[in-house]
Amino acid sequence: MKTISIALQKGGTGKTVLGVSLAAALARRYPGRVLLIDCDPQGNSTEWTYTETLNAELASVLLGKCHLEQAVIQSDFPGLFLLPTAGLDGELKVWDEGAGSRKPFAMREVIKGAAAMGFKYCILDLSPGFGAIERAALVASDEVITPIMPDPFGISGLEIFIKNLMGLRKDLETGKPEYRRIVINAVDNRIKQHGEIVDKMRKGAGDFHQYVFPVDQVFRRAETEHKSVYDMGTAKKETIDELDRLASEAEEG
Ligand SMILES: Nc1ncnc2c1ncn2[C@@H]1O[C@H](COP(=O)(O)OP(=O)(O)OP(=O)(O)O)[C@@H](O)[C@H]1O
Ligand SMILES: [Mg+2]
Repeated sequence: MKTISIALQKGGTGKTVLGVSLAAALARRYPGRVLLIDCDPQGNSTEWTYTETLNAELASVLLGKCHLEQAVIQSDFPGLFLLPTAGLDGELKVWDEGAGSRKPFAMREVIKGAAAMGFKYCILDLSPGFGAIERAALVASDEVITPIMPDPFGISGLEIFIKNLMGLRKDLETGKPEYRRIVINAVDNRIKQHGEIVDKMRKGAGDFHQYVFPVDQVFRRAETEHKSVYDMGTAKKETIDELDRLASEAEEG
């Protein structure tokens, strides 16, 4: 099983858009074998992919209130399963601010359980914070992908993320997660600065793989309609092409 976190210590850069869409892309390839885990106390990816009432959530599992099997549900997306987080009324914040700090490997147990359930991919949508839940999620991941927006603040957000990631690896003496993919999100070709930043990042990319997603209103509409961008039928060709390329490459190694 492969576990991929979507993370960056900066709000609103497209983590949820990317996490939900990558999970949907993989679920098209491996129906029933992809688990989206909502690790953000805001519960945005849960709200997008599931419309029924929740009986249990990720925090219920972390707090020992139920078994993983009881909290994993079929989402509203074809072939995609969800380990949800219940937004405002949820308990993930409670775990994060309480027991979480003493349990750096708690998400590893959740991931082990998901592997035992037969999942092939776990995609973790993280909040912009760097508390117990984000650290536990990163430590449990094989890979982390960061979405940034093409502005100077986006790049400084990336520097903070890299510093935190290095610190985490050092603290916990783990080589994980691997970090070699960056998504430059919401690129508008009509904006000169966007083109310049994309060029600059391409030149300085080194071993990093880069993926460029255009500004596409389909994401907002898909959120409102609780659908994946694939099921909307109105996504830009570049959006779907780049998402498919990311899914193919992330799938492999
Ligand atoms: N490529 C895009 N084109 C147009 N709108 C986008 C794009 N990517 C993201 N958005 C919009 O920007 C907003 C923020 O995106 P998203 O919720 O994915 O960010 P986030 O990083 O998960 O935020 P948070 O840090 O709060 O978790 C959403 O309303 C989303 O629809
Ligand atoms: Mg989010």
